[in-house]
Amino acid sequence: MSTADHYFTADPASADERRIIRAAIAGREVDLETAPGVFSPDHVDLGTQVLLRHLPPPAETVLDLGCGWGPLALTAALQRPDARITAVDVNRRALDLLERNAARLGASAAIEAREPQAVPADRTFAAIWSNPPIRIGKPALHALLSTWLPRLESGGHAHLVVQKNLGADSLTAWIARQRDDAGRSWGDIEKVGSAKGFRVLRLTRR
Ligand SMILES: C[S@@+](CC[C@H](N)C(=O)[O-])C[C@H]1O[C@@H](n2cnc3c(N)ncnc32)[C@H](O)[C@@H]1O
Repeated sequence: MSTADHYFTADPASADERRIIRAAIAGREVDLETAPGVFSPDHVDLGTQVLLRHLPPPAETVLDLGCGWGPLALTAALQRPDARITAVDVNRRALDLLERNAARLGASAAIEAREPQAVPADRTFAAIWSNPPIRIGKPALHALLSTWLPRLESGGHAHLVVQKNLGADSLTAWIARQRDDAGRSWGDIEKVGSAKGFRVLRLTRR
C-alpha cells in the first residue's frame, strides 16, 4: 500500500485484486474475500482478535464502527442471525468485501454495510463493537467517536480495542470527560481486558 493509499481511503488506488483467505469467524473456519487497500487483508488483525475474546454475545442491534472486510460484523451475524448489524466504513472496497463475505456465509439478511452518512441519523444501537481507526489522527478519531458513541442506547455497551502505545489510556480519559448534546455523560468507561499490547475498553451507557 503506498502512503497515499491508506486503508481509510474511500476508493483505494491499489489494484483491486481479490483473494480468498481462510479465517476463524465465530469458531468456524471459513473462506473469505479480501483485497489490498483495506485494513489487515491477510488475517484477522491481532487487536481485533483480542477484542473478539472480550465481547459479550451480540445484542439485538449492533454497530460495527469501522468494519473493514468484516470480522466483527460477520462474527455477530454468525453468533446471532436474527441481530440487526449496521456496519460502517469510509472505504468502499471494504464495504463491498463485507457484503460479499456476508453473502458467502449466508449472513446478508443480518448485515447492512453502509457508508457512515447513509445510516439514518436517528438509528441507535444496543451494542457498538469497534477496532477504531486510530491512525486517522486524534481530531478525526474524536469526531468519529462523538458521532457514534452517543448513539448507544441506555444500558448498552460499546467495546473498543486500542493499542496501549497508541494512546489507549488517554482515549479512555477523553471518553470519560465527554457529554452528549443534552449534557449527559456518554457513560462509564472501564478497561475490561488487556493482552498483547492492546486494551479493551467498555463504555456502559447509563
Ligand atoms: C483498525 S480498522 C478495523 C477494521 C475491521 N473492523 C477489523 O477489525 O479488521 C478501522 C477501520 O475504520 C475505517 N474508518 C476510518 N475512518 C472512518 C470513518 N470516519 N467512519 C467509519 N469508518 C472509518 C477504516 O477504513 C478501517 O476499515
